[in-house]
Amino acid sequence: MRLLVSETSPAAVVILAAGEGKRMKSRTPKMLHTMCGRSLLGHSLAAAAELEPKRLVVVIGHAKEQVSAEVAAVAPEATIVVQEQQLGTGHAVRMVTEAIGAMPGTVVVSYGDMPVLRGATLRELASRHAAAANAVTVLTARGDFPGFGRIVRDADGAFLRIVEERDATVAERAIDEFNSGCYAFDGALLADAIKRVTTDNSQQEEYLTDVVEILRRDGHPVGTVLAADAAEIRGVNDRADLARARRALNDRLLEDWMRAGVTIIDPASTWIDVSVTIGQDAEIGPQTQLEGATVIGAGAKIGPGCLLADTVVGEDAVLLHVVARQAEIGDRVTIGPVAYLRPETRIEADAHIGAHVEIKKSVVGPGAKVPHLTYVGDATIGAGANIGAGTIFANYDGVHKHHTTVGEHAFIGSNTVLVAPVTIGDGAYTAAGSAITDEVPPGDLGIARGRQHNSDGWVLANREQTRSADAAQRRRSE
Ligand code: UD1
Ligand code: CA
Repeated sequence: MRLLVSETSPAAVVILAAGEGKRMKSRTPKMLHTMCGRSLLGHSLAAAAELEPKRLVVVIGHAKEQVSAEVAAVAPEATIVVQEQQLGTGHAVRMVTEAIGAMPGTVVVSYGDMPVLRGATLRELASRHAAAANAVTVLTARGDFPGFGRIVRDADGAFLRIVEERDATVAERAIDEFNSGCYAFDGALLADAIKRVTTDNSQQEEYLTDVVEILRRDGHPVGTVLAADAAEIRGVNDRADLARARRALNDRLLEDWMRAGVTIIDPASTWIDVSVTIGQDAEIGPQTQLEGATVIGAGAKIGPGCLLADTVVGEDAVLLHVVARQAEIGDRVTIGPVAYLRPETRIEADAHIGAHVEIKKSVVGPGAKVPHLTYVGDATIGAGANIGAGTIFANYDGVHKHHTTVGEHAFIGSNTVLVAPVTIGDGAYTAAGSAITDEVPPGDLGIARGRQHNSDGWVLANREQTRSADAAQRRRSE
């Protein structure tokens, strides 16, 4: 029979994030390493927020300026407690109860370096804890967790205590049930018991795990909840763990998208941040990375080989080998292969951007074409305009950037240089190879290049008995 569990929100979620993370061997504090578009701490805060706790508390210590800035950015409602010296997980929690006092109700404790842990798992822990009216409920996992504390039970399987690996006997080390480090406590009992934790262990630290045994010895009910997915419990200690965690979370995100109606050709080479949204029937090709606030419209085909950051793509657009940052791409736009869209670029509906094109801070109007080998910077291109191969928008004079306007249905000849600031009128043309420095009014043809002159018979006179001269001679004597 399934127990009906109460779903009341906990009094607090406390996230321990004061440790240094030495094994990352990094200038960046461990908690601020990122994966799937969020810091490790950001993932923990997001999972905590899913419990809708009355209070969210983060214990910080190492690199506290940087870490507190991250907390302020992603969870401004959180209370920060500083643990100046990292004297153990129990000490960290004692700093919280000393700063805030007892928090009556359920207090969930979790870590800032468990980015794969789901909010739903913590919620289940909290509600089963409340339903059982336990003093503490420990989230445990089975599998291979070197270095983790072991769950010691009596002959009848009743929970006794947690022993740290380095304090464990050989027999205890053989136990295959591990302490995740996440707990649901009765807040009032926690505040009392945490004062009684000693440093009588191999590391001379205050172990939070000791609270569990203290509560049991006091005669309170203690329980465990076994995590359904052990991968969630594996925290991040070094960069190999970071890669494993990133892969695990990415797999989960991709699976959610596939179940929501998105085709992903090669999940192994596709990376999608938590903050991305994708419309139905979009197709994501191999070697594609979608980052930040990127939005992919329904039916769009992205990839192979796209990197899109903070970019909005319209419905049924097709992008092949595109790098885009802070760009806006309209419905049915086709781009690539091999194009680079830089910030503040907007490509309007039905436009086409072709091979080897770079566009920066520009608007390309609906149905316009920039098909080949072109640089567009600081420009407005009107609807239906055609930009010939090799056109350069010369926007920079060495000191200032200037704007270029190309009118609707204008036609820019191949290898034109548009020297900004300059305006090409609606329906105007430029001749191929022109360096345009002055306005071309609507409907005019702008030509700005040397006029062609042929020197009659120059090769015959100056390159006698060459193959060129012979070929010319044959043709001229016909
Ligand atoms: C702890 C548990 C162990 C469990 C393991 C799971 C204790 C004594 N042991 O191991 O049973 O299997 O987690 O990962 O609790 N932290 C602080 N302040 C401190 C110390 C740690 O904020 O003074 C934070 C760290 O930043 C980290 C978390 O607490 O996020 C766990 O610390 P860590 O040293 O990795 O845990 P262990 O003590 O090895
Ligand atoms: Ca750890």
